[in-house]
Amino acid sequence: MPITLKSEAELDVMREAGRIVGQTLAHIREMVRPGLNLLEIEAFVTEEFRRRGAVETFRGYDPAGKPPYPSNICASVNDELVHGIPRDRLLRDGDIVTFDLGATYKGFVGDSAITVPVGEVGDEARRLLEVTEGALQAGIEAMGTGTHLNDVSAAIEDAIPSGYAIVREYTGHGVGRAMHEEPQVPNYRRRFRGPPLKPGLVLALEPMVNLGSRHTRELEDRWTVATEDGSLCCHFEHTIAIRKGGRPDVLTLP
Ligand code: MF3
Ligand code: CO
Repeated sequence: MPITLKSEAELDVMREAGRIVGQTLAHIREMVRPGLNLLEIEAFVTEEFRRRGAVETFRGYDPAGKPPYPSNICASVNDELVHGIPRDRLLRDGDIVTFDLGATYKGFVGDSAITVPVGEVGDEARRLLEVTEGALQAGIEAMGTGTHLNDVSAAIEDAIPSGYAIVREYTGHGVGRAMHEEPQVPNYRRRFRGPPLKPGLVLALEPMVNLGSRHTRELEDRWTVATEDGSLCCHFEHTIAIRKGGRPDVLTLP
């Protein structure tokens, strides 16, 4: 599958899809407190998407070799990195939790994730969130430099200080009518430049950072990915377009 470049009109639609995701995540950030059940958040998102005319995108997603994803959102707590299936679990003071949402609106997908602290979290956790969100920001800025894909990956890698481990098993990706399009966007540099960054390119950048080893494992539910050593981890994601003239436009802002 080649990379598909979107027209300015298509990007305007993608911005609407992105805004639904961004605003819903902003709302979740306000809701999060000790004692909140993950299932309440999932119910909120399902209702919010329905109310706004967005189609659920994660439920039923079944890449080769996997059972269909059973929920509308991913909710991953502490040592869970990505693809956590929301379950009957209360958030506790000191947890960090990642919410990953995808909405399809007028045929286009918005994909974004945030990791939020629950109550008071420790310094290590707080710093981990800053580092990971900073790496996402560095990647977004690199998208405006008119160079090549590898420069975005390199900018993300370089924004992560030594002592933090960059996950390699999962990457960012193109986004459009499908949630996962070409190209893959690793969070570390490779030896080739990759495709040039052109107006109409839409990427989901999603750095994933562990406090311990970079390795991950899949849990028995076949979806939830956790750190191999049980260390804390973090994930932030935005969907970003390159507009006419080369300006990066973060589509999933609230
Ligand atoms: N948002 C995730 C990503 O960026 C995908 C979620 S997987 C699903 O790739 F199964 F939950 F859909
Ligand atoms: Co994604």
